[in-house]
Amino acid sequence: MNTFVIQGGKPLCGTVAVTGSKNAALPILASSLLSGDKVLLKEIPALTDVKIMCEILSVLGCRMDQKNVNEVIVDTRKLNHCIVPYELAGLLRGSILVMGPLLARLGQVQIAMPGGCPIGARPVDLHIKGFAALGASITTAEGCIIATAKKLHGAKIYLDFPSVGATENIMSAAVLAQGDTIIENAAVEPEVVDLANFLCSMGAKISGAGTDTIKITGVTSLHGTQYTIMPDRIEAGTLLVAAAATGGCVTVTNILPEYSKPMTAKLLEMNVPITMGENTISIHGGGALQAVDVKTLPFPGFPTDMQAPMTALLSIARGIALVTETIFENRFMHVAELCRMGASIKVAGRCAMIEGCNHLTGAKVTATDLRAGAALVIAGLAARGDTEISDIHHIDRGYAALEKKLQQLGADIRRK
Ligand code: EPZ
Repeated sequence: MNTFVIQGGKPLCGTVAVTGSKNAALPILASSLLSGDKVLLKEIPALTDVKIMCEILSVLGCRMDQKNVNEVIVDTRKLNHCIVPYELAGLLRGSILVMGPLLARLGQVQIAMPGGCPIGARPVDLHIKGFAALGASITTAEGCIIATAKKLHGAKIYLDFPSVGATENIMSAAVLAQGDTIIENAAVEPEVVDLANFLCSMGAKISGAGTDTIKITGVTSLHGTQYTIMPDRIEAGTLLVAAAATGGCVTVTNILPEYSKPMTAKLLEMNVPITMGENTISIHGGGALQAVDVKTLPFPGFPTDMQAPMTALLSIARGIALVTETIFENRFMHVAELCRMGASIKVAGRCAMIEGCNHLTGAKVTATDLRAGAALVIAGLAARGDTEISDIHHIDRGYAALEKKLQQLGADIRRK
């Protein structure tokens, strides 16, 4: 059951709702460790990565009560472990996000050094720089990072790069530090804002989230809360691009349009008719797609997580497009698989040059990472003939029952 079989060529039509954001749920689950009580989280997406994060919290001593598929209660009153199991940490890049909360709550944490992953080396030097500035002492031994701190203190921290994870980890550590912390050149992604809102709902004092300067005033403890995770803007973008690739008419609901602007702006440039509602976006496909250049940048630039799905769409647009990936050094693994389906793409370093073709042809392809897998689904839906995508466990990490959402829109896709 690790393969998708898609019969392509059918325009997607209908309405589909976006579910909770993976990249908001993971830091929020990790930061639940900061609460001295119970936390009820709603709209938690049913994803493999979320399941592993919940397993990590449980091993650390939290009681996890899954109310239903999208709701969980995290009870941290018996939190008593600071060592994240090596094998669990390695399964999930986001596991690093428990470092800040554990340092703040227990004064120590041991976690496997997150290895690289297909899309890049993904170092954690900025996380460590922030923790050291807050007064933690950090060592590495046997492939683990060990951080200790009697009591964290406020600091002024400049991030060399507006790292999403480092901003989230440092912000979470600072909420219980003594004094004020300023994070400069902070990430401004919507998921950072969602985390800050969650922390404030537990009594944290944070201002400036969503700007490049975040101020945190430390408090002595955080109480419990109930919080609803924001919708997933990348899942929304993926569904919109799938609609455009198949020339369909699709309305995506439960969306925050202002967060999807980098994507909808590009689709409009490609001659894809779009209408925006209060919390819906509709695509009226069928027109000729026009190639456009795309450059991934930190928010509010074009999101790197949408680069692979967009590359799939551009492979059937009229003209030549240049895609530049500025965030991760190895995020073009979907290209070789798209070329098996007839795409004409050349990669040189951080750039891919795409010469649009009339149509793609179904083929047997392999998902290499989460967003590359999504790109292959989009290509399969648009292609003539059948496509088989293996290793779809990558896709299940970040999309909850993607095939069910697409079937709801008339796609001929099944898991085998
Ligand atoms: C988050 O990863 C997301 N993951 C990624 O989504 C997303 O692509 C990325 O932000 C950028 O938006 C989660 O939120 C769980 P970064 P993160 O730290 O925090 C370098 C997906 O597909 N860097 O902003 O790891 C790093 O190497 C995933 O859903 C350092 O050099 O991203 C990269 O080049 C993929 N040192 C750049 O910054 C550090 O200490 C951006 O990384 C940290 C990062």
